[in-house]
Amino acid sequence: MATESTTLDIINSPQTYISELSKHVGQEVVLKGWLYNVRSSGKIAFPQLRDGTGIVQGVALKNTVSPEVWEALKSLGQESSLIVRGTVRADERAPGGYEIDVIDAQVLQEVHDYPITPKEHGTEFLMDQRHLWLRSRRQHAVLKVRHTVVQAVRNFFDNDGFTLADAPILTPAACEGTTTLFEVDYFEGEKAYLTQSGQLYNEATAAAFGKAYCFGPTFRAEKSKTRRHLTEFWMVEPEMAYATLYDVMSLAERMLSHVAQRVLEDRAEELKVLERDTSKLESIVAPFPRLHYDDAVKMLQDGHDAGALENRFEWGGDFGAPDESFISSKFDKPIMVHHYPAIVKAFYMARDPERSELALGVDVLAPEGYGEVIGGGERATSLEFLKEQVRLHQLPQEAFEWYLDLRRYGSVPHAGFGMGIERCTAWMCGIEHIRETIPFPRMLYRIRP
Ligand code: 4AD
Ligand code: MG
Repeated sequence: MATESTTLDIINSPQTYISELSKHVGQEVVLKGWLYNVRSSGKIAFPQLRDGTGIVQGVALKNTVSPEVWEALKSLGQESSLIVRGTVRADERAPGGYEIDVIDAQVLQEVHDYPITPKEHGTEFLMDQRHLWLRSRRQHAVLKVRHTVVQAVRNFFDNDGFTLADAPILTPAACEGTTTLFEVDYFEGEKAYLTQSGQLYNEATAAAFGKAYCFGPTFRAEKSKTRRHLTEFWMVEPEMAYATLYDVMSLAERMLSHVAQRVLEDRAEELKVLERDTSKLESIVAPFPRLHYDDAVKMLQDGHDAGALENRFEWGGDFGAPDESFISSKFDKPIMVHHYPAIVKAFYMARDPERSELALGVDVLAPEGYGEVIGGGERATSLEFLKEQVRLHQLPQEAFEWYLDLRRYGSVPHAGFGMGIERCTAWMCGIEHIRETIPFPRMLYRIRP
């Protein structure tokens, strides 16, 4: 049960954030947050306070705080909301380097039955409690890394001459095949879908701006329940006019190197919490090795012959998770596999002029078993070819007329890619499952909270 406090005298005092304590050593500050944990023995109590920017330990002595504050501090449960007034003391033994000598405290709400306790909980339970789980140290660290990944990709494109031009979420046409479409019943006489990718619109904005990118939520009605698939995820997608497959590969390796560098520099504390082996991130430096699909297949077949892979991979198929892991285990950097068979790729892919069965597409496979983090390539430029592909993929041509216009009016070679923010974040964090890399994951069996 939670009880309300009625007196609110220090609530109006200016707040100092825990992340800023270094600027206030020796000074009296007011911290506003939630109780993370408390230990007490005899005449001394150690309440740990978190405020979203960090966690700090307070030291409260029975004979220096009021009797009410002393009683409250000793009995408060985890996640009680409280405000603490105290003096900042540098202490190198303390986790963040500082401690607070508590002078006074104000409890806003006393809590005694917080569902997430320091004991081990199962993931399904924690996922049901996601709205609260976000407060835990590890989850907090993962989402701070996510923020830095997003910031880094935006900075990268903003500083590289790209214009942000976001794509719509409600769309009349499929971009990535019809098997993972979410249908929306709203527009009269017309089918609408939640977007699978902003790419088709990026092709229009790239023709308008030269270099454009979009960044937004995308949706896949994936029937697969894996550690790499969400039904709703965020994708950053750059697109460049007058560009080829090779330009896209250089862009992808430059962007990923930048992201890894930013995460290493800005999220060192969080990487420590996550026990991330940072040497793995330090090796994400362009250039990345490039591997033709044919050579990747040969590698898989040799792997099978040597007994390292269960099934023999046949030329022409798409890679599964074990195949990707096997290929990337041979390199200590991300690897770019290019020239996939067109049959396993989307309808818009340009073809290799020398071998028309191959698409000018690339997948970037992350090391450590993280698999595909980026997919992209060069787009087909010919109106006739695309009309034929729309027909072969049984897509409704009316819905693609605007897209075909891009080949009627000033068609040029162009190329781009998409990177899933959650897959990238999971890799940066070194965590097992991408469900922890988005505040509120949506998956095949999860729509709540
Ligand atoms: O390879 P995909 O399907 O490529 C496209 O959508 C292109 N139209 C992008 C483009 O060229 N503009 O998806 C791109 C990336 C994948 O490499 C992966 O990182 C992520 O999006 N992704 C997913 N992430 C989480 N859950 C899913 N179900 C995902 N499907 C793709
Ligand atoms: Mg892909």
